[in-house]
Amino acid sequence: PYSPRINIAIDGPAGAGKSTVARKVASALRYIYIDTGAMYRAVTLKVLESGLSTEDNEGVGRLADGLDIVLLPGAESQRVLVNGEDVTSRIRTLDINRNVSYVARLADVRSRMAELQRRMALEKGVVMDGRDIGTHVLPDAELKVFLTATPRERAKRRFLELDPNEGITLEQLEKEITERDRLDQERNIAPLLQAHDALLLDSTGKTVDEVAEEIVQWGLAAVRTI
Ligand code: DC
Repeated sequence: PYSPRINIAIDGPAGAGKSTVARKVASALRYIYIDTGAMYRAVTLKVLESGLSTEDNEGVGRLADGLDIVLLPGAESQRVLVNGEDVTSRIRTLDINRNVSYVARLADVRSRMAELQRRMALEKGVVMDGRDIGTHVLPDAELKVFLTATPRERAKRRFLELDPNEGITLEQLEKEITERDRLDQERNIAPLLQAHDALLLDSTGKTVDEVAEEIVQWGLAAVRTI
């Protein structure tokens, strides 16, 4: 890896391209990519399986405490394990999309996830994507990016990711994405917000490679200043 190493926080709304871009940036810099949304999704899967209410802060917090969430890096895709079980594809369904913002509002879940995420970043050299990384989880990250795109463009990207059998239209998906953004922005704890020192990057009409290259250049510039 390039040294010295820095931490890079990439936040933004659903479907802005954070995970694809963050993975590319991490691979270009030989850094570790951490998808924090996958962690909230994994907790949500277990909440739905357990029959707990997504309003039950303490119950869900206790459940989350008992989960061993492991992100296994891979060139193309990251595998997500919960207590040893591979849940990679099961956390990408509409059912999870529709519930995850409720689970992510819970105080005990957020404090547990933030603690795990900070631990993962201790050695530096991580690219972490999420909603509250620059504002809350890693406020000292040397580079912060706020990645956006228009709601229609974001819906199109998520549409391509979904199983066609889910049977949802692009218009409906755009509505659900906008609703999820609203929940993420309006929650009390660590809402989706551009950090004051984050660089804004609008990916509408740009390719993944263009966006990733821009962030890599910012990252190398940040490395040179330390
Ligand atoms: O990035 P994603 O769509 O996989 O994230 C799923 C949800 O998890 C998102 O709607 C809000 C929540 N989340 C969060 O609250 N904080 C994070 N750092 C990452 C995700």
